[in-house]
Amino acid sequence: MGCLPFFSVETWILLITFICIFVIYGNWTHGIFENLGIPGPKPYTYWGTIGRHNKDDQQCAEKYGKVWGMYEFRSPMLAVMDPDMLKTILVKQCFTYFTNRRNIRLNGDLYDSVSTVEDDHWRRIRNVLTPSFTSGHIKEMFKIMKHLSSKLTASLQSKAQNNEVVTIKDYFGAYSVDVMASCAFSVDMDSINNHSSPIIFHASRFFKFPQFVLILQGIFPVLIPLFELLGISFFSPTSTAFFKTILAKIKAEREGSTHKVCTTNLDFLQSMINSRTANDPSKGEKNKGLTDHEILTQATMFMVAGYETSATTLAFLAYNLARNPEVMKRLQEEIDSTFPNKGAVRYEELLQMEYLDSVVNESMRLYPPAGRLDRVAKKTVEIRGITIPKDMIVMIPVYALHRDPDLWPEPEEFKPDRFSKQNKRSINPYTYLPFGTGPRNCLGMRFALVLVKLALVEVLQNYSFSVCGETEIPLTMDPGGLVGPLNPIKLKVTTPCSFINRTGIYVFVSNCSENQNTYY
Ligand code: HEM
Repeated sequence: MGCLPFFSVETWILLITFICIFVIYGNWTHGIFENLGIPGPKPYTYWGTIGRHNKDDQQCAEKYGKVWGMYEFRSPMLAVMDPDMLKTILVKQCFTYFTNRRNIRLNGDLYDSVSTVEDDHWRRIRNVLTPSFTSGHIKEMFKIMKHLSSKLTASLQSKAQNNEVVTIKDYFGAYSVDVMASCAFSVDMDSINNHSSPIIFHASRFFKFPQFVLILQGIFPVLIPLFELLGISFFSPTSTAFFKTILAKIKAEREGSTHKVCTTNLDFLQSMINSRTANDPSKGEKNKGLTDHEILTQATMFMVAGYETSATTLAFLAYNLARNPEVMKRLQEEIDSTFPNKGAVRYEELLQMEYLDSVVNESMRLYPPAGRLDRVAKKTVEIRGITIPKDMIVMIPVYALHRDPDLWPEPEEFKPDRFSKQNKRSINPYTYLPFGTGPRNCLGMRFALVLVKLALVEVLQNYSFSVCGETEIPLTMDPGGLVGPLNPIKLKVTTPCSFINRTGIYVFVSNCSENQNTYY
């Protein structure tokens, strides 16, 4: 005390009271799991148990089992990996208690996106959007995808010929963004031939949440209304404005033309516009269609949600195949027997390819783009003896679930045969959730699978992937939200007619069927 003689007793009391309140506030919520008898890592004041999403979830699963409690800053979060509980939460009680995801509210102009909205609002928007993802619609869009997958294949040719190392997500990202733009609003952005196009720039910036906002709102949720007032949001306002401006222009052009009730050119945007005219007010039907704002939000969300997840899935597929040449060879054999002589890829046959399906499933098991799912309890419920209090966030650690050694022997190994027709039957559907499940699962799942499979098949008809000096093995994973590599995946793309010769020099044979032996 002697070194601070100038503080009065009142000041000391105030200071100590402030420190006590500060510490108590930082720990206030941190006893909840202890009270409920649920194990979990020890939280730090204010910080909670935040760490590396994927690896930490795996470690917690090893230590605490199928259910544990954790804290994202001050917010308690119940992690659930128990398949029976997941069935109850994601399916059986989806409409009653677990309809909504956590909504931190800082969604900026995307506040009415289907992935964010709640209860009846969600049900209405989801019902309007669902018909755009029927098999019939996806089959129509397949024609557009095929045009773009051919462009993707052509764009890789010079890289293969010149034996260049490629950052594989640049190619698959450009393809994914072009597919999304063509299917969402019928515009060919040609990003495949221009990797630095603004649409890629804005789509890839979307999920890079500003860290300081994330931390401040977590520690002091009372600041959220102030952030809202200041227009601060998780999604980049410039990128949101970029997409909304393009879409608003296209929408205005269509509404001003005879396009209005067009039924042949049913891209996502047109389906949403048409949804407004589908109800007949003269029959007293209430218009359940989307508002102008809702339409622009959903189209923007499709663009960015579809781009990042599909591009990441394709990049990981290429990486896994490059590291497992015997799997790639077997897949190429299936491709060649389904579409002989590099024949055109057809929709029905593509979806019937069994080994392709196993390879895609296994790659998404190891690297599910969404490493965590969440739902919020609307009321206090008890599931399998565990009390989940009202407003509790239930977090499903998909990454850890997909690498649980009790469910997946040798979980770190890439073994597509786990998903063979025979073995698939014994997989509990609630242990494999790359697209979530239940009424609130991924709306674009079937669409995304077609997009991914088509690109993979067409690229593998013409090239193979291989690892090179610049390929990071094993990958360092990004510790944050979406599952992705911290550093870009670099691979070589080779043609069946390119090889490393005896002196270690890479050789490309332009007309391999005639010259195959002349270079040895
Ligand atoms: C490989 C690509 C994709 C993956 C891995 C993926 C994964 C997911 C996951 C895990 C969810 C959360 C599900 C849940 O909470 O149960 C989700 C939701 C969603 N996804 Fe996807 N997705 C992909 C592609 C797409 C595409 C291409 C679109 C749109 C065209 C799309 C649209 C949506 C929407 C709208 C939701 C929110 C659904 C709702 O709240 O009702 N996704 N996705």
